[in-house]
Amino acid sequence: MNSKIFPTDKILQRADKEQLLKQKGIAIWFTGLSGAGKTTIAIALERELYKKGLLTQLLDGDNIRSGINSNLGFSDVDRIENIRRIAEVTKLFVECGIITICCFISPTDEIRTIAKNIIGKNDFVEVFVNTPLEICEKRDVKGLYAKARSGEIKDFTGIDAPFEKPENPTIEITDTWSIEECVKKILAKINL
Ligand code: ADX
Repeated sequence: MNSKIFPTDKILQRADKEQLLKQKGIAIWFTGLSGAGKTTIAIALERELYKKGLLTQLLDGDNIRSGINSNLGFSDVDRIENIRRIAEVTKLFVECGIITICCFISPTDEIRTIAKNIIGKNDFVEVFVNTPLEICEKRDVKGLYAKARSGEIKDFTGIDAPFEKPENPTIEITDTWSIEECVKKILAKINL
Protein backbone atom coordinates (compact mmCIF):
# COMPACT_ATOMS: atom_id res chain seq x y z
CA MET A 1 0.00 0.00 0.00
CA ASN A 2 1.25 3.52 -0.80
CA SER A 3 2.33 4.98 2.53
CA LYS A 4 1.70 8.54 1.27
CA ILE A 5 -1.95 7.69 0.74
CA PHE A 6 -2.27 5.43 3.76
CA PRO A 7 0.19 6.54 6.46
CA THR A 8 0.14 3.45 8.66
CA ASP A 9 2.19 5.14 11.40
CA LYS A 10 -0.51 7.79 11.82
CA ILE A 11 -3.53 5.56 11.56
CA LEU A 12 -5.54 5.13 14.74
CA GLN A 13 -4.80 1.83 16.40
CA ARG A 14 -7.05 -0.79 17.96
CA ALA A 15 -5.87 0.34 21.40
CA ASP A 16 -7.03 3.91 20.66
CA LYS A 17 -10.47 2.65 19.76
CA GLU A 18 -10.65 0.33 22.75
CA GLN A 19 -9.76 3.26 24.94
CA LEU A 20 -12.51 5.35 23.37
CA LEU A 21 -15.08 2.59 23.85
CA LYS A 22 -13.70 1.57 27.27
CA GLN A 23 -13.86 -2.09 26.33
CA LYS A 24 -11.80 -4.76 24.61
CA GLY A 25 -12.66 -6.24 21.23
CA ILE A 26 -13.32 -9.96 21.22
CA ALA A 27 -15.11 -12.58 19.10
CA ILE A 28 -17.59 -14.84 20.85
CA TRP A 29 -18.09 -17.68 18.39
CA PHE A 30 -21.15 -19.90 18.83
CA THR A 31 -21.07 -23.28 17.11
CA GLY A 32 -23.76 -25.96 17.10
CA LEU A 33 -26.50 -27.54 15.02
CA SER A 34 -29.27 -25.57 13.33
CA GLY A 35 -31.95 -25.03 15.97
CA ALA A 36 -29.50 -25.57 18.85
CA GLY A 37 -30.28 -22.12 20.24
CA LYS A 38 -27.13 -20.25 19.19
CA THR A 39 -28.88 -17.10 18.04
CA THR A 40 -31.41 -17.11 20.90
CA ILE A 41 -28.63 -17.20 23.48
CA ALA A 42 -26.58 -14.67 21.53
CA ILE A 43 -29.49 -12.20 21.42
CA ALA A 44 -29.89 -12.47 25.21
CA LEU A 45 -26.13 -12.12 25.70
CA GLU A 46 -26.02 -9.06 23.47
CA ARG A 47 -28.84 -7.41 25.45
CA GLU A 48 -27.00 -8.09 28.70
CA LEU A 49 -23.80 -6.57 27.34
CA TYR A 50 -25.76 -3.56 26.08
CA LYS A 51 -27.13 -3.05 29.60
CA LYS A 52 -23.54 -2.96 30.82
CA GLY A 53 -22.79 -0.19 28.31
CA LEU A 54 -20.78 -2.41 25.97
CA LEU A 55 -20.84 -2.12 22.17
CA THR A 56 -21.54 -5.35 20.29
CA GLN A 57 -22.22 -6.66 16.80
CA LEU A 58 -24.25 -9.80 16.21
CA LEU A 59 -23.65 -11.85 13.07
CA ASP A 60 -25.61 -14.98 12.26
CA GLY A 61 -26.11 -17.47 9.46
CA ASP A 62 -29.46 -16.12 8.39
CA ASN A 63 -28.47 -12.43 8.12
CA ILE A 64 -25.02 -13.07 6.60
CA ARG A 65 -26.29 -15.64 4.13
CA SER A 66 -29.00 -13.28 2.87
CA GLY A 67 -26.44 -10.51 2.31
CA ILE A 68 -22.68 -10.67 1.92
CA ASN A 69 -22.72 -14.47 1.44
CA SER A 70 -25.89 -14.73 -0.62
CA ASN A 71 -23.93 -16.41 -3.43
CA LEU A 72 -22.91 -19.34 -1.21
CA GLY A 73 -24.63 -22.67 -0.57
CA PHE A 74 -23.89 -25.58 1.75
CA SER A 75 -21.28 -27.62 -0.10
CA ASP A 76 -18.04 -28.20 1.84
CA VAL A 77 -16.27 -25.57 -0.28
CA ASP A 78 -19.03 -22.99 0.19
CA ARG A 79 -19.21 -23.55 3.95
CA ILE A 80 -15.47 -22.91 4.17
CA GLU A 81 -15.79 -19.73 2.11
CA ASN A 82 -18.79 -18.68 4.22
CA ILE A 83 -16.79 -18.94 7.42
CA ARG A 84 -13.64 -17.43 5.90
CA ARG A 85 -15.50 -14.25 4.90
CA ILE A 86 -17.35 -14.10 8.22
CA ALA A 87 -14.08 -14.46 10.13
CA GLU A 88 -12.50 -11.64 8.10
CA VAL A 89 -15.49 -9.39 8.80
CA THR A 90 -15.40 -10.37 12.47
CA LYS A 91 -11.73 -9.47 12.64
CA LEU A 92 -12.49 -5.97 11.35
CA PHE A 93 -15.08 -5.47 14.08
CA VAL A 94 -12.82 -6.90 16.80
CA GLU A 95 -9.97 -4.64 15.73
CA CYS A 96 -12.37 -1.75 16.11
CA GLY A 97 -12.82 -2.75 19.76
CA ILE A 98 -16.27 -4.25 19.27
CA ILE A 99 -17.52 -7.39 21.01
CA THR A 100 -18.55 -9.49 18.03
CA ILE A 101 -20.98 -12.33 18.58
CA CYS A 102 -20.99 -14.88 15.77
CA CYS A 103 -23.62 -17.62 15.39
CA PHE A 104 -22.72 -20.13 12.72
CA ILE A 105 -23.08 -23.88 12.59
CA SER A 106 -19.37 -24.00 11.64
CA PRO A 107 -19.66 -27.77 11.51
CA THR A 108 -16.07 -29.04 11.32
CA ASP A 109 -12.81 -28.68 13.19
CA GLU A 110 -11.23 -27.45 9.96
CA ILE A 111 -13.78 -24.66 9.58
CA ARG A 112 -13.53 -23.55 13.22
CA THR A 113 -9.74 -23.57 12.99
CA ILE A 114 -9.91 -21.35 9.91
CA ALA A 115 -12.07 -18.88 11.85
CA LYS A 116 -9.80 -19.00 14.89
CA ASN A 117 -6.65 -18.47 12.82
CA ILE A 118 -8.09 -15.52 10.91
CA ILE A 119 -9.47 -13.81 14.01
CA GLY A 120 -6.48 -14.76 16.20
CA LYS A 121 -6.64 -17.22 19.08
CA ASN A 122 -6.37 -14.54 21.76
CA ASP A 123 -9.49 -12.84 20.46
CA PHE A 124 -11.51 -16.01 19.91
CA VAL A 125 -13.86 -17.54 22.45
CA GLU A 126 -15.60 -20.73 21.31
CA VAL A 127 -19.04 -21.47 22.72
CA PHE A 128 -20.40 -24.90 21.84
CA VAL A 129 -24.19 -25.03 22.10
CA ASN A 130 -24.44 -28.78 22.60
CA THR A 131 -28.12 -29.41 21.96
CA PRO A 132 -28.68 -32.99 20.76
CA LEU A 133 -29.90 -33.54 17.22
CA GLU A 134 -33.15 -35.14 18.44
CA ILE A 135 -34.07 -31.95 20.28
CA CYS A 136 -33.12 -29.64 17.40
CA GLU A 137 -35.13 -31.83 15.05
CA LYS A 138 -38.11 -31.88 17.37
CA ARG A 139 -38.05 -28.08 17.64
CA ASP A 140 -37.61 -27.72 13.88
CA VAL A 141 -38.26 -23.98 14.14
CA LYS A 142 -37.74 -23.36 10.42
CA GLY A 143 -39.18 -26.67 9.18
CA LEU A 144 -35.80 -27.49 7.61
CA TYR A 145 -35.24 -30.83 9.38
CA ALA A 146 -38.50 -32.15 7.95
CA LYS A 147 -37.39 -31.02 4.49
CA ALA A 148 -33.97 -32.61 4.99
CA ARG A 149 -35.57 -35.92 6.06
CA SER A 150 -37.86 -35.93 3.04
CA GLY A 151 -34.91 -35.19 0.75
CA GLU A 152 -36.22 -31.78 -0.30
CA ILE A 153 -33.02 -30.23 1.14
CA LYS A 154 -29.69 -31.94 0.61
CA ASP A 155 -26.49 -31.75 2.71
CA PHE A 156 -28.30 -30.67 5.85
CA THR A 157 -26.04 -30.57 8.91
CA GLY A 158 -26.76 -33.44 11.28
CA ILE A 159 -28.86 -35.33 8.72
CA ASP A 160 -26.77 -35.90 5.62
CA ALA A 161 -23.87 -33.55 6.31
CA PRO A 162 -21.51 -33.87 9.27
CA PHE A 163 -21.28 -31.98 12.52
CA GLU A 164 -18.05 -32.61 14.42
CA LYS A 165 -18.36 -31.72 18.08
CA PRO A 166 -15.62 -29.32 19.18
CA GLU A 167 -13.01 -31.12 21.30
CA ASN A 168 -12.08 -28.29 23.54
CA PRO A 169 -14.52 -25.36 23.46
CA THR A 170 -13.99 -22.45 25.85
CA ILE A 171 -17.57 -22.94 27.04
CA GLU A 172 -20.02 -25.78 26.49
CA ILE A 173 -23.72 -25.12 26.89
CA THR A 174 -26.27 -27.87 27.37
CA ASP A 175 -29.96 -27.75 26.55
CA THR A 176 -30.91 -28.23 30.21
CA TRP A 177 -29.80 -24.69 31.09
CA SER A 178 -32.13 -21.71 30.85
CA ILE A 179 -31.18 -18.83 28.54
CA GLU A 180 -30.38 -16.71 31.63
CA GLU A 181 -28.05 -19.42 32.96
CA CYS A 182 -26.29 -19.69 29.61
CA VAL A 183 -25.71 -15.93 29.51
CA LYS A 184 -24.50 -15.91 33.11
CA LYS A 185 -22.03 -18.72 32.48
CA ILE A 186 -20.66 -17.07 29.36
CA LEU A 187 -20.23 -13.75 31.17
CA ALA A 188 -18.54 -15.48 34.09
CA LYS A 189 -16.06 -17.15 31.77
CA ILE A 190 -15.21 -14.10 29.68
CA ASN A 191 -13.53 -11.16 31.27
CA LEU A 192 -15.12 -8.18 29.53
S1 ADX B 1 -22.44 -23.12 8.08
O1 ADX B 1 -22.50 -24.61 8.07
O2 ADX B 1 -21.93 -22.61 6.81
O3 ADX B 1 -21.70 -22.62 9.25
P1 ADX B 1 -24.55 -21.22 8.63
O4 ADX B 1 -24.51 -21.08 10.10
O5 ADX B 1 -23.91 -20.15 7.81
O6 ADX B 1 -23.97 -22.68 8.22
O7 ADX B 1 -26.07 -21.33 8.13
C1 ADX B 1 -26.92 -22.23 8.76
C2 ADX B 1 -28.38 -21.86 8.56
O8 ADX B 1 -28.74 -21.99 7.19
C3 ADX B 1 -29.25 -22.83 9.31
O9 ADX B 1 -29.63 -22.36 10.58
C4 ADX B 1 -30.46 -22.99 8.41
O10 ADX B 1 -31.43 -22.01 8.73
C5 ADX B 1 -29.96 -22.69 7.03
N1 ADX B 1 -29.71 -23.86 6.15
C6 ADX B 1 -30.23 -24.01 4.92
N2 ADX B 1 -29.75 -25.12 4.34
C7 ADX B 1 -28.91 -25.72 5.22
C8 ADX B 1 -28.11 -26.90 5.20
N3 ADX B 1 -28.08 -27.70 4.13
N4 ADX B 1 -27.38 -27.22 6.30
C9 ADX B 1 -27.41 -26.41 7.37
N5 ADX B 1 -28.14 -25.27 7.47
C10 ADX B 1 -28.89 -24.92 6.39
